[in-house]
Amino acid sequence: AVESGVARKKITDWDAYRDSLESRLGRTHEVSRILINKAKDIKKRIVLPEGEEIKVLRAAQILIDEEIVSPILLGNKEQILKMAKEHDLDISRAEIVEYASCQKIDAYVDELYRLRQRKGLTRNACRRLLTTDPNYFGVMMVRMGDADGMVSGVNHYYPEVIRPALQILEVQKDKKFIAGLYAMVLKKETIFFADTTVNIESTAEILANTAIMVADKVKKTFDIEPRIAMLSFSNFGSVRHPYAEKVAKATQMVKQMRPDLIIDGEMQVDLAFDTELRDRDYSFSDLKGRANVLIFPSLEAGNIAYKLMMRLGGAEAIGPILVGLEKSVHVLQRNCDVDTIVRMCAIAAVDA
Ligand code: ACO
Repeated sequence: AVESGVARKKITDWDAYRDSLESRLGRTHEVSRILINKAKDIKKRIVLPEGEEIKVLRAAQILIDEEIVSPILLGNKEQILKMAKEHDLDISRAEIVEYASCQKIDAYVDELYRLRQRKGLTRNACRRLLTTDPNYFGVMMVRMGDADGMVSGVNHYYPEVIRPALQILEVQKDKKFIAGLYAMVLKKETIFFADTTVNIESTAEILANTAIMVADKVKKTFDIEPRIAMLSFSNFGSVRHPYAEKVAKATQMVKQMRPDLIIDGEMQVDLAFDTELRDRDYSFSDLKGRANVLIFPSLEAGNIAYKLMMRLGGAEAIGPILVGLEKSVHVLQRNCDVDTIVRMCAIAAVDA
């Protein structure tokens, strides 16, 4: 209701407000509700570095009204309050941090310098980054425990947000690479796509690592039992090419490392869903039933596939959800809508 321009003070019928919110969330509502309910139970503090963006303020309003997370807005306090007033928003319960003059800046500079002094950053450069780039400041808040998670990217290119996270936060123990996941919500099922956003050139090790991280995330966050198809242009050795062999090798690595997971490949994407054909021609396959996790062989394939599903396949996408970082940071797709920001804050809270 806030996004569609209905002034907040005019909302008197809360049942109608909820119905309108539910219809706008569409099929993603059911999946979103699981996440939002989980987030409400734990009430985390999520920092939003783009506090001076109107979409972020509108999302903050919903997060506060529905008590999903406690938002921390970065930016100029006067400017943020002025914008909120102009758009009839009440964000008085949000914490606003003026990062350029924050009291904690010296401690943050010390920590960034400690982390990056042998990676080309001087102390002055650290101060400059933290006082001019809210994404660096936001990630540092998460590192230092001053926020439980961060969501950013409405007005930044993806690498601009992910790079500070990679430079400042640790990757989870036993993992070397992070990856990006989308939940693609269709009429009757939800299918998880990865890697859709991070690793431009994946080795077998990266693909195996991605499959394991995604499987754990799908189970833990979405309460869904993962059935993983490792995708290629070849079915179980039908094409002998290094690209297909890479996927077969990754599949074997996962089977060795995590024998508890249901996974097979390499396979073409239709075989992931055509169970009759799989049972007939490849009855040895360890994947039984329709796959619900698709691991793509390259970023090109994963990124193009999820966007095709959104634009032509009628799917709604929840994400991108970063997997593999020790702390909770999520990067929005540029120009995403208010509902997406709300959902991603819920995901960040659950992740934290
Ligand atoms: N996992 C863990 N760490 C990583 C990864 C990874 N996948 N990639 C890079 N790093 C680390 C590097 O080792 C480096 O660590 P260090 O500085 O401590 O030594 C640090 O991250 C920074 O590395 P850079 O060299 O600055 O970054 P790089 O050039 O490798 O870029 C990036 C990383 C930004 C993720 C790059 O791979 C990229 O641009 N990926 C594609 C992003 C994109 O455009 N996605 C598609 C659009 S988004 C959408 O559709 C919503």
